[in-house]
Amino acid sequence: MITRRHFIATSAVLMAVPKLTFAKAPFELTAAPVSMSLLSDNDKKTDLWGYNGSTPGPTIRMKKGEMVNVNFENKVNQPSAVHWHGIRIDNKMDGVPGLTQDVVKPNQSFDYAFTVPDAGTYWYHSHNRSWEQVERGLYGALIVDEENPPHVDHDIIVFVDDWSLNNDGTLNKDFENRHDQAHDGRLGNFAKTVFEPASPQIKKNQRIRLRFINVATDRIFPLEVSGIKGKVVAYDGMPLGIPETIKDLVLAPAQRIDIIADTIGEVNIDLLTSDGPHHLGSLGVEGEAPIRDLPIEPLESNKILSPNMKNATKLELRMEGGAMSSRMMMGGMMTGNVWAFNGQSGMSEKKPFHRFKQGETAIIDLVNDTRFAHAIHLHGHHFQPLDNNESGMLRDTILLEPEEKQKIACVFNNPGKWLLHCHMLAHQASGMKTWVEVGT
Ligand code: C2O
Ligand code: CU
Repeated sequence: MITRRHFIATSAVLMAVPKLTFAKAPFELTAAPVSMSLLSDNDKKTDLWGYNGSTPGPTIRMKKGEMVNVNFENKVNQPSAVHWHGIRIDNKMDGVPGLTQDVVKPNQSFDYAFTVPDAGTYWYHSHNRSWEQVERGLYGALIVDEENPPHVDHDIIVFVDDWSLNNDGTLNKDFENRHDQAHDGRLGNFAKTVFEPASPQIKKNQRIRLRFINVATDRIFPLEVSGIKGKVVAYDGMPLGIPETIKDLVLAPAQRIDIIADTIGEVNIDLLTSDGPHHLGSLGVEGEAPIRDLPIEPLESNKILSPNMKNATKLELRMEGGAMSSRMMMGGMMTGNVWAFNGQSGMSEKKPFHRFKQGETAIIDLVNDTRFAHAIHLHGHHFQPLDNNESGMLRDTILLEPEEKQKIACVFNNPGKWLLHCHMLAHQASGMKTWVEVGT
């Protein structure tokens, strides 16, 4: 049983105060070791790290436009920092050690204060040694409610995760395995969903919102969800202009999908594998509500600038390296520089991928010149995939299959230094990261 404290933003008492200037009492977020029963066998506890005593950490829930203060305290024995994934945040609050802040050493703290400009499903996670710290459990959901949220009977977060466990239930601590890094990353031998709330009392025909978040370090989850009839309404937090039918659900690491649907039976979530479906979790349905069959409307839109395609800067981001590549033959395996973008492995302090003028639109050719899939994430912005995107979705993380190419357009309007990396954290650990700078 996973227990966690809930922190629900309430602003009712301060109705008269303009939302944007009101800072709530600070929210305490403490990273520390936790012991959890992940396996159904209760004697086998898994030694993990969590926030406020559990993993996933507490859900931080806010209203669009609201400001939050988070006092982060580090009680694990490694330096850490908290990144607010997908939020178009003030750069100095982005939580990237070495780029936007210093690491928060053990027993030290850091105060984050930021506003959330967009409604949607986001998450927070450690951004120091993330391939280890996220795997150990340092993550949680950050939910930003719409000004007028759609009516649903149940609003449920569905964390999708895998863990690499030893036979006795303890976590495998080989976080920097070179073979994993050069292939598909660290793939767990145990996978399941974690629901928040843990056991909602759902009736048949009720309307539910499912907010899927892939918090796994490296695994791509192709999913099948049965027992519902509905639509996909958002990707990576950003609403679709026209909700899509639910088919071919794929969640790359860090990606989110929001579904609004009516239940037609027990809700089952399966991971599709080459050996057939693998059950991840289910939501029981008891009793019956009257059939309403209301249409599923688009969510209220977030205000993202559309790209200026005519004057766009054209760039290419080429993914290179991995097992069986020439980079590996040339010593990448020895030095840990397994992956590269445009020939550069790891961060170069002086040389970002690109320096943008504020408001500049870029069209970037993402070229996966490797035999492995990658999940490319840009901090502080959402971008628009240009291929096969009739619904006009916006993303903060995009999946590229082996040897795939995709074009994206992005308006770089958020000043500061922003990381651009593979969210397969074993790939990030072994060189697949760079950064961009947006001027003021
Ligand atoms: Cu989810 Cu660079 O982060
Ligand atoms: Cu990758």
